[in-house]
Amino acid sequence: TYVVSQPCVDLKDRACVDECPVDCIYEGERMLYVHPDECVDCGACEPVCPVEAIYYEDDLPGDQKVYLEVNTTFFDTIGSPGGAARFGTAPDHPLVAALPPQEA
Ligand code: F3S
Ligand code: F3S
Repeated sequence: TYVVSQPCVDLKDRACVDECPVDCIYEGERMLYVHPDECVDCGACEPVCPVEAIYYEDDLPGDQKVYLEVNTTFFDTIGSPGGAARFGTAPDHPLVAALPPQEA
């Protein structure tokens, strides 16, 4: 799966959402999250993020590896909605919710 990491927090550019062919990039209050079971690993989202927040799971930088678990755990309570557009927004992972405001 691909993974959204910390540079997305408090930015939410959303360019990635428009690229995803299966609409599996879901919105939290402070960042977006890729659904690990719905993502088909097409990679279309990765190059369009202006802050390079998106990585293939094996390519996450060391200090961002926790975001694989952050993206996966985000869906523990909402399951697999099968499409982000009609889903709306869900509460952030606790690690993200606890971050101080991120500089623009
Ligand atoms: Fe976030 Fe980048 Fe997408 S900032 S919303 S991962 S385009
Ligand atoms: Fe969508 Fe990116 Fe996966 S475009 S299918 S989240 S690799």
